Amino acid sequence: MSFCAGLSKGALRVHPDCERILISEEEIRAKVADIGRRISNDYAGKEVLMIGILKGAMIFLADLVREITVPVQYDFMAVSSYGASSKSSGEVRILKDLEYGVEGRHIIVVEDIVDTGLTLNYLAENLKSRDPASVKICTLLDKPSRRIEPVEIDYNGFVIPDEFVVGYGLDYSDRYRNFPYIMVLSPKVYMNEGE
Ligand code: PRP
Repeated sequence: MSFCAGLSKGALRVHPDCERILISEEEIRAKVADIGRRISNDYAGKEVLMIGILKGAMIFLADLVREITVPVQYDFMAVSSYGASSKSSGEVRILKDLEYGVEGRHIIVVEDIVDTGLTLNYLAENLKSRDPASVKICTLLDKPSRRIEPVEIDYNGFVIPDEFVVGYGLDYSDRYRNFPYIMVLSPKVYMNEGE
């Protein structure tokens, strides 16, 4: 059984909002190191531009770039769908764009999770239209059961079931992003939403 430890590294303390830990700190660390090694091998002799999609990917990107041994630059984009109803229409707005052009650059888009695939589908097309040398996709989590648009993922951390997960960048109401593991959120946290 997995316990939901609090943020203190001391005695295990069950966090009241945690149903169970899905992916531990150790498992995340090993996976990030593995993806970092693969990227370093694949891009030997090249420089790579990692693009983190705010806010969720920030923590994964911060750990990942430190596992990469080829020259790396990183930048961020922020996007927003037009709310839940239009999310299914695939409309995505760019709230913050890249600082510089990406023409001729080797790009890796970094996400915390691919869910419906609508965000990455839009972003991949948008970035490809800017004439980069290459575009690859890297995500820590993949929830294929929720997919609406297909996404070709080049670096895939963990395939997960359709459960409400938070931690390591993922949030509920902007909370839990700082938890060092991925946990299934207890339904009691969101059950009475809207009441
Ligand atoms: C999440 C995640 C992806 C997107 C994936 O972001 O970080 O960007 O949703 O969902 P999709 O595959 O269904 O398009 P969210 O909108 O929750 O914003 P956040 O990163 O700021 O938490």
